[in-house]
Amino acid sequence: MLLTLARERRLLLVGGKGGVGKTTIAAATALAMAREGRRVLLVSTDPAHNLGHLWGRSIGPDPVRVEAGLDAVELDPQAVADAHLDSVGRELRRLMPPHLAGEVDKHLALSREAPGLHEAALLEKLAQTIEGAQDSHDLVVVDTAPSGHTARLLALPEMMAAWTDGLLLRRKRAERFTTALSNLGARDVEDRVFGAGGESQSRDQRIRQVLLQRRQRFERLRERLADMESTAFVIVLTAERLPVLETIELHAQLHKAGLAVGGLVINKRSPRDAGGFLAERWRQESLHLDTLQQQLPDLERLELPLMPNDLVGAEALVALSVQFADA
Ligand SMILES: Nc1ncnc2c1ncn2[C@@H]1O[C@H](COP(=O)(O)OP(=O)(O)O)[C@@H](O)[C@H]1O
Ligand SMILES: [Mg+2]
Repeated sequence: MLLTLARERRLLLVGGKGGVGKTTIAAATALAMAREGRRVLLVSTDPAHNLGHLWGRSIGPDPVRVEAGLDAVELDPQAVADAHLDSVGRELRRLMPPHLAGEVDKHLALSREAPGLHEAALLEKLAQTIEGAQDSHDLVVVDTAPSGHTARLLALPEMMAAWTDGLLLRRKRAERFTTALSNLGARDVEDRVFGAGGESQSRDQRIRQVLLQRRQRFERLRERLADMESTAFVIVLTAERLPVLETIELHAQLHKAGLAVGGLVINKRSPRDAGGFLAERWRQESLHLDTLQQQLPDLERLELPLMPNDLVGAEALVALSVQFADA
């Protein structure tokens, strides 16, 4: 299921609770596809930076070639959010009339604390990264941040639009106020505040253009994510109580956001025939998987065994990906 999805789609998102094996599975899938000759970009948005650990080298916001045909990028939500606010601040200060500079600062200060800002900034960066890979890569594999965030992130294009629209609205109000003043006889107020008519108009158009571009970028990402022909979302979990419950919840959230889940990967499954203790573990896991089956009966599943070794480095990832085909 995993390899089929990866072969057929152009964008593969891997989500799930922390520690279940998202990064490992995203990386193993990406590597398997690169070894089949596809040009793959592996993107991690998980603040715990483990792509670098997997390949024993530092990986940052710019793609690094880690294997033939495989590039990796790590997007740090905090750094992305900071860079985003800096650039938005610069843009707005340049575009807003000087007397609204205080408003811009207030807006940015509020935004810095606003819930969802990190996700929004990350989403925008992710959209840019995916768009940027359109021609250079055949497949983008995204190792997403832990579950709750992921779904909210995907519901964000609308929220993000509301966020940027707020500032436009404030500018509009200021405009109306000066128009009212000029109607009362203070004709030169508007010119003094916004600059001569022509300049104010083109500045307005530029602001709208910047905001519109951002909005369109979100909308394109959203369309891309909802397009089942080119995109698949895979949830990784372990056969334990909480990961199962969170998977059911994440599936519902994704569904609500209009995104279909392509399959479930049940990772670290205990062996049935390796002693009494593990056999008991296996039985316990099976009970949790029954719950999963009842709740999400139509989803394809792939079970991956608990591996004896640490999964670090290309060879360990290949050893894991061999199991993708068998199961
Ligand atoms: N099938 C597996 N067998 C054994 N260890 C695994 C397996 N899958 C992942 N791991 C290990 O589990 C830990 C967490 O995996 P990771 O991919 O970082 O999870 P996540 O990205 O979901 O937080 C890592 O140490 C990884 O090597
Ligand atoms: Mg991870």
